[in-house]
Amino acid sequence: MARVVTMHSYRGGTGKSSMAANMALLLAARGLRVGILDTDIQSPAVDTIFGVTAGPGTGTFADYLVGRCEIEEAARFVPDRNLFVVPSRTGFSAINEIMTNGYDVGLLNEGVTRLVGSFSPDVLLLDTHTGVNTETVMAVAGSDALVIVTRAHRLDLAGAAESVALANRLGCAQRALVVNMVPEGAAAADLVSQVEKAYGSPVTAVLPYVPEMADLADGHVFVTGRPWQALLAGYQEINSVVLGEGI
Ligand SMILES: Nc1ncnc2c1ncn2[C@@H]1O[C@H](COP(=O)(O)OP(=O)(O)O)[C@@H](O)[C@H]1O
Ligand SMILES: [Mg+2]
Repeated sequence: MARVVTMHSYRGGTGKSSMAANMALLLAARGLRVGILDTDIQSPAVDTIFGVTAGPGTGTFADYLVGRCEIEEAARFVPDRNLFVVPSRTGFSAINEIMTNGYDVGLLNEGVTRLVGSFSPDVLLLDTHTGVNTETVMAVAGSDALVIVTRAHRLDLAGAAESVALANRLGCAQRALVVNMVPEGAAAADLVSQVEKAYGSPVTAVLPYVPEMADLADGHVFVTGRPWQALLAGYQEINSVVLGEGI
């Protein structure tokens, strides 16, 4: 049975998409069959992270939403990995129709069901647009686990109540709460207690700010090598929680 896992953050740029990509690679390296569906049509990321390009006969999630392809036709298998990705869009394809006419949000859950049925992933990660919006509500409602990503500053924490209310209302019990981009030298214990107070739930992982990760000029996205050790451990911890291990 596939586990569907939704990534959420109240504010943008907290690291959801890069975390989803790394979680997916680590899960695939464990021999699990993994998919990532990028539902973030406003600000897609999975296409860039995995180098997905547009091409004849290839669709995207946005194309599926406007009826231009089947969801299965939007899945791209990453060579040599147990992994497929569904980009939300590549370039402007389908975006104009969606902006003008909207789309039937029920198609999101139908697409998830179809991906699960057709490709039998062990884990399907749903990357989402920032904040609380219809797509995110639909994604969370149909998920087995939720990863809430926040930074430890006032603006991010101000949205905590809404994220918690969303998760509670939709009954998503299995949650990982992640504090990302913690600056070097920050007092980790204080920070964890502030975040736990805001979210009313234990913090799963505290991830440092890693400058190499922020600087994508050299294409560093995936956790390999020494500077990434702390991130690697954190991503693995998050994976155990979403898989329901050790509970
Ligand atoms: N721990 C980290 N340290 C430094 N930069 C990070 C870290 N995690 C993510 N980033 C960078 O932050 C930027 C935003 O990340 P992204 O995954 O796109 O966030 P979101 O999907 O939440 O908007 C990217 O350039 C990413 O590489
Ligand atoms: Mg993103």
